[in-house]
Amino acid sequence: MVQITEIETKYRELLSKVIERKDECNEFVRFLEKETSWLTAPASAKYHLNIEHGLIIHSVNVATVMLELKKVLIPDISDESCVIVGLFHDVGKVGMPHAPRYLKKNSGYVYNENQIEMSSAARSLYLVSKFISLSDEEAQAILYHDGQYILENRTVAHKECPLTLLVTFADTWASAMEDGRIKIMKPLYFKK
Ligand SMILES: [Fe+2]
Ligand SMILES: [Fe+2]
Repeated sequence: MVQITEIETKYRELLSKVIERKDECNEFVRFLEKETSWLTAPASAKYHLNIEHGLIIHSVNVATVMLELKKVLIPDISDESCVIVGLFHDVGKVGMPHAPRYLKKNSGYVYNENQIEMSSAARSLYLVSKFISLSDEEAQAILYHDGQYILENRTVAHKECPLTLLVTFADTWASAMEDGRIKIMKPLYFKK
């Protein structure tokens, strides 16, 4: 497994690509790092990267894959958009500052039952929008990043913006690398 310092370095490098909305983004990052478990939270309680720092590892991986993909497929999309959507698509998994989504229990995590119920994609959009002025495309990409894995996302089937398609694929790809199902690229984190 990689050291968390390696992840943090990569995370700060990605953040430095946000230029136009730098101040807004810095404010958001300050909020996340000070008031939530953003840098330590797991990516899930039971499944994917259910380890300390799992969420930041996954978020860095997704943003990195998005930047690679867009270079080849659609260079017109800015690095800034890829970083904001990629890094923050799952930020809702931190929960709310006063009510984290996951709680530490024994050596693992459990879902916190004492929180307002909301999909993590909706919460991601809610939290990001409080700080960063998003384009319509970025908002769609964050809210529907799970693509057609989620039944409720049918409404956007065949109506996805390129940015939404990018984040959906990058998310699926990064998760498969993290789970050890794809071994052809060197991810930041290997489960096995
Ligand atoms: Fe997600
Ligand atoms: Fe994700």
